[in-house]
Amino acid sequence: MRLISAVSGVQIPAPPPVYFMIKDPLIIDYKNMLADSIGPKHGILLKEIGSLKKKASGILRKTSSERAKGKLPFLDLPYQDIKKIIGISEEISDSFDDLVVLGIGGSALGAIALLNALAHPYRNILPKGLRRRPRVFVYDNIDPDQFKGLLDVIDITRTAFNVVTKSGETAETLASFLIIRERLKKAIGAGWQEHIIATTGPQKGALRKIASDEGYMTLDIPSGVGGRFSVFTPVGLFPASVAGIDIEAILAGAQSMDKRCSQKKIEENPASMGAILHYIANTKKGKNISVMMPYSHALERVADWFCQLWAESLGKRVDLKGKVINTGQTPVKALGATDQHSQLQLYIEGPNDKTITFLRVERFTEEIEIPRDFEDLEKISYLGGHSLGELINAEQKATEIALTKAKRPNMRITIPEINPNTVGQLLFMLQVQTVIAGGLHNINPFDQPGVEEGKRLTYEFLITKG
Ligand code: PA5
Repeated sequence: MRLISAVSGVQIPAPPPVYFMIKDPLIIDYKNMLADSIGPKHGILLKEIGSLKKKASGILRKTSSERAKGKLPFLDLPYQDIKKIIGISEEISDSFDDLVVLGIGGSALGAIALLNALAHPYRNILPKGLRRRPRVFVYDNIDPDQFKGLLDVIDITRTAFNVVTKSGETAETLASFLIIRERLKKAIGAGWQEHIIATTGPQKGALRKIASDEGYMTLDIPSGVGGRFSVFTPVGLFPASVAGIDIEAILAGAQSMDKRCSQKKIEENPASMGAILHYIANTKKGKNISVMMPYSHALERVADWFCQLWAESLGKRVDLKGKVINTGQTPVKALGATDQHSQLQLYIEGPNDKTITFLRVERFTEEIEIPRDFEDLEKISYLGGHSLGELINAEQKATEIALTKAKRPNMRITIPEINPNTVGQLLFMLQVQTVIAGGLHNINPFDQPGVEEGKRLTYEFLITKG
């Protein structure tokens, strides 16, 4: 099939409705985003994709030239030297029972996503014999009851604290740090500093100064890498490594996806296609909400991580020329199959204002068979002999069909199995997709003036209140 580009009038090949990654295992199927599947009112026409090809190619070129000038360092993170991260994580694993990460937003979500995706789902409550390395907790709030609850379940004298803040000056993280620092001093006395690893910007910020004055171990968040693009820095990699996750394999997955996402041919570049489809759905079809729906507990927090990435990067008041546009697609997380019994009714019959991205796992690590029983009761006997993996994937397929019948645009990313390599691929692709979407919207995906305004007002409020 061919189509005519509305921009150039040049004939360009139509993007394949199903995107197969031949060498790499992720499979992206976006046919249910298209008008062919759900009609032209809600579905995307191939000519609409074609008309953005030139712009998307320009964004790719600009991205690659800025990368070459060292202006987009997050793209080079998959190739970094991780010896120091591994070295400190080994030291911490040998010396402590627990690691607590103190951070918020982009300084916590990457670690949460990796731990949730790649560690045992109940790792922290596994009996000691079954868990080789420290428990890892991520505390990303300032709720006093939750904080006290955390202190109740750890022994501070046997715990290391990873204080994570890029700016080194975020109120929530610094408040928790101050409390922990004081308690460590009291509980441990000499040598309390050995319990702290500061992950922060390489030069500036209060935490950097304190870390150097007081002699903490430090890990750098490279300059120019913003919080929501920092999952492949020590922000995500260090806690993952302490939990025994193979961070080298995560980066290998990201490297292979980097190659895919550098493809000049838009229809072979999954990040470009993802960005274009969401951009058209948002700006031409009124889809103001983007739901990410993993049918996998392990990927649930990847969806949370993505929500921050999509929201903070694309939710902007002004475009690159300073014109007020108040743009952005609201990201929402839904978990399959759980949220079929909560959100799905709305998605199928409520306002047609959403795109749904399914994350589907083809082969779960565990195959648990449902026993055959109650053969005389039809409403239960049909389950027998199937595995839980088959059931959850059948439910994903059924949801996809129901949404498509109701003309709701949806796409599916299939991950053959969850492992560090495939998770590295997925996270890398979603970051590049976000940057390209930012380019299509003509906004800066790397700033967050709204978040900074909130930080500034909190600071002023506390200063004036004394
Ligand atoms: O993505 C972002 O830039 C933000 O969510 C930050 O990560 C968050 O505000 C925390 O900032 P910092 O790492 O400076 O403490």
